[in-house]
Amino acid sequence: MTTDIYQAAIRPLLFNLVKADPEKLHTSTIHTLSQLGKIIHRPSTHWLDTRLQQTLCLSDKRLQQNLFGLKFPNPIGLAAGFDKDGIAAPIWGSLGFGFAELGTVTFHPQPGNPQPRMFRLPQDNAALNRMGFNNLGAADMNTRLTQLRKQLTLPIPIGINLGKSKITPLETAAQDYRDSFHLLKDCGDYFVVNVSSPNTPGLRSLQDSAMLSSILDALQQENLAQKPIFVKIAPDLEWEAISDIINLAKTYKLAGIIATNTTIRRDNLKTQIIAKTGKPPSSEAGGISGMPVRDRATEIIRFIYQQTQGKVPIIGVGGIFTPDDAWEKITAGACLIQVYTGWIYEGPWMIRRILKGLLAKLEEQGFDSISQAVGIRE
Ligand SMILES: Cc1cc2nc3c(=O)[nH]c(=O)nc-3n(C[C@H](O)[C@H](O)[C@H](O)COP(=O)(O)O)c2cc1C
Repeated sequence: MTTDIYQAAIRPLLFNLVKADPEKLHTSTIHTLSQLGKIIHRPSTHWLDTRLQQTLCLSDKRLQQNLFGLKFPNPIGLAAGFDKDGIAAPIWGSLGFGFAELGTVTFHPQPGNPQPRMFRLPQDNAALNRMGFNNLGAADMNTRLTQLRKQLTLPIPIGINLGKSKITPLETAAQDYRDSFHLLKDCGDYFVVNVSSPNTPGLRSLQDSAMLSSILDALQQENLAQKPIFVKIAPDLEWEAISDIINLAKTYKLAGIIATNTTIRRDNLKTQIIAKTGKPPSSEAGGISGMPVRDRATEIIRFIYQQTQGKVPIIGVGGIFTPDDAWEKITAGACLIQVYTGWIYEGPWMIRRILKGLLAKLEEQGFDSISQAVGIRE
């Protein structure tokens, strides 16, 4: 069975036998996908695209949604952080994703934190990362995406996740986000203000009302084309802080909220020691993704949905591995969901498997569209 090839052979080989360094593996994967993305749209090798789609995609009109003026072929997107520079942008639709979020990109190119900075926690079905927004910068992404969009029409919506450059002081963060948005506003279908990464000093303090307000104000002044703008929040916020962000989302007419980023909490982890560093997770800086963040992310989605009576769209992300995980997020109130860590653990057939599972659940419930499931268990 195709699903078993990755889980029974490829993953054990890479994770256990070769003990491939997670960041090196990621870099080679993204470069391979980038090369693949270049060739699948050529007429001579178009068969490869057809083959990929037959194997990994699932097209069904019950999974489609029109949201914020965009057409989503299915509700599962690639979460930010995987394709930071958008080098593999043409491939994501052919791997089954219904949308892809590129970035985080910053106005100034930056190397990120020293390595090692990405760790697998297999006992917890999790990862710990402190990448620190390593990326080639907004101008580079603008050049690449502008060229790409001239050559082809991408089959799925593309989001661009914006972060603050490390060298920019917090006080001038709004201008930094605005500068990136100015360069990239014609390249993305939607935009995300990332104020929730734990790996840029002080970044999460930008979730405070006054700071966030000035960023959103600056962006909306620049946003004459009224592109959908989201804010991505941390799972570690208190309810009151989330309520404040909901109010800002309404004030600044945001398209919605992305919940959530990685967590700085370390409770209930099975991993005692991270092999690479010989230290416990509690002594390592960074954000945890995957299973440990799953239930908190869902709880936050449910809270936002309840507080807004479903009026503020939510993109749910955190610890999605199975159709049940996806269904939980959607029925708690997420109209779209995203995956990162689950895709690493479960492999490239995961999207199709989850979409199949979602269709089965729609049938069980007698629903004829995924949008009918959003928030039914708020
Ligand atoms: C290695 C790694 C890098 C990430 N980089 C970013 C990033 O640059 N920007 C961002 O908004 N989120 C980033 N994230 C967070 C994910 O987008 C997502 O919000 C989080 O991992 C929870 O989803 P998951 O459990 O499916 O991984 C990163 C996650 C991982 C594992």
